Amino acid sequence: MPEFGCPRRRSDRPISQARFPETQRFPPFPVAASSFDKLVIAALRSPTCATRISSGNAFSSVLATEGPGAGSWKLFFGVLLSTTSHERLIRPARNIIGSLRLPGDKSISHRYAMLGGFAEGTSRFTNFSTGADCASTLACMESLGATVNRTGPDSIEITGIAGRVTPPSHPLDCGNSGSTMRMISGLLAPQSGRFTLIGDESLSRRPMDRIRKPLEAMGARLTLTDGHAPLTIDGGPLRAIDYATPVPSAQVKSCILFAALQTAGPTSILEEVRTRDHSELALRAFGATLSRTGPAISITGPQTLRAIDAAVPGDLSSAAFFLCAAALFPGSSLVLDSIGLNPTRAALLDVLTALGARINVLNLEEKHAELVGVVQITATPEGLGSTEVSGALAAQLIDELPVLAAIAPFTSGGIRIRGARELRVKESDRIALVAKNLRAMGAEVEEFDDGLDIPGGQTLHGATIDSGGDHRIAMAFSVAALRATGDTLIQGAGSAAISFPEFFGLLDQVAER
Ligand code: S3P
Repeated sequence: MPEFGCPRRRSDRPISQARFPETQRFPPFPVAASSFDKLVIAALRSPTCATRISSGNAFSSVLATEGPGAGSWKLFFGVLLSTTSHERLIRPARNIIGSLRLPGDKSISHRYAMLGGFAEGTSRFTNFSTGADCASTLACMESLGATVNRTGPDSIEITGIAGRVTPPSHPLDCGNSGSTMRMISGLLAPQSGRFTLIGDESLSRRPMDRIRKPLEAMGARLTLTDGHAPLTIDGGPLRAIDYATPVPSAQVKSCILFAALQTAGPTSILEEVRTRDHSELALRAFGATLSRTGPAISITGPQTLRAIDAAVPGDLSSAAFFLCAAALFPGSSLVLDSIGLNPTRAALLDVLTALGARINVLNLEEKHAELVGVVQITATPEGLGSTEVSGALAAQLIDELPVLAAIAPFTSGGIRIRGARELRVKESDRIALVAKNLRAMGAEVEEFDDGLDIPGGQTLHGATIDSGGDHRIAMAFSVAALRATGDTLIQGAGSAAISFPEFFGLLDQVAER
């Protein structure tokens, strides 16, 4: 049975479906316990199911076994190691043990950078994503007139342009980042002037028609190159619209929200499948008003934004690699501190629990309406069972599917994935590359247009992995490699730096060999 003490207790629903009042504040719940078990029981008994540990803090006691500061130094070296190598040899592991604090959530960092750069005043962010994608967003915001100061390895100050963009004389380079290109287009479309957005080879293959349609319905003009970047926006005052998103996409939803923020009148967006709601929460944090009724989100513009100070929660999609690695080794024990647990992002915890891993969530609290908590995982001696991911779940798990697929051969009953056609238009064709690399490791796998069937009970051998320059493929197969026989060579391993430069350093830190 799932062990997500807090949300389950509140509503009898898994964490990904839990409903939290967006303005709710969780009162402190003092706990005099020194072990995780006691803490979990306390959390289960808490009427609000939000436990702030005021004594015997589980995470700090785990950290103490490593010595103060140990985590941050290892994290720092991890950055150095992982970004300087394009190939990486992964040796099998015996177990996964340890505690980690992960860098800031990529999705939230993008939004804070865009909204902070657009707002009035100076915002300060700590635990900001260290990935290259968010650096692309910061660079674009600077080109539009915002001032960015790096005040530490993962902290920034950004002084916004108070809603007045300076059209840059050069194209905005979005690098590898679809989030940057799609969401920034929404900020720019209502601004007078011409803006050209470019990206790397991978980004230039990804579909951009999905933002052209709503922005043109609002009155902007977008010129694409055969449906892709480079794209040019001829912006100006827009009109409010009602729009039903045809593909579940938080990037498209955010693009429309950012345009509607600057557009007179009420805009409504209907999303049949609920996608991550970081933009809605971030807009509110920056002072905007918007509402949600069922699948419809409404925002009435124009509105202005005010700067905020915020700590970005750890990235659950980065945590996914470590959670899946730990799920592979009976007797593993991993603690991840300050992880973002927004219910629209947390479906992986339910899936791993359904597969048989034991997961506890502790110290749940809210930061700018984003849920943050400590995640503890251990794998049981029975190992992992089987599961199917399809429909809305596939959309909610989209970034975690590659690593879930990579561990599927080690389950007893296999994993079936359907309704995930979007995987084909990510940084790579992730369905094709997962199938290709699983086969390279000796696994049996069947590929479908919208998913994969991966039987369980398989043994994998070390192989050369083609990451296709895709960060999530490189990291997913580094996890599979931990349970393979023999060493695995990850080609294009440097791509991990797109979202998670610290990945290989942290993996070495928790993998027992
Ligand atoms: C993201 C949304 C998802 C996800 C991407 C980040 C976001 O993309 O795959 O990594 O931050 O909004 P889509 O909106 O294309 O589904």
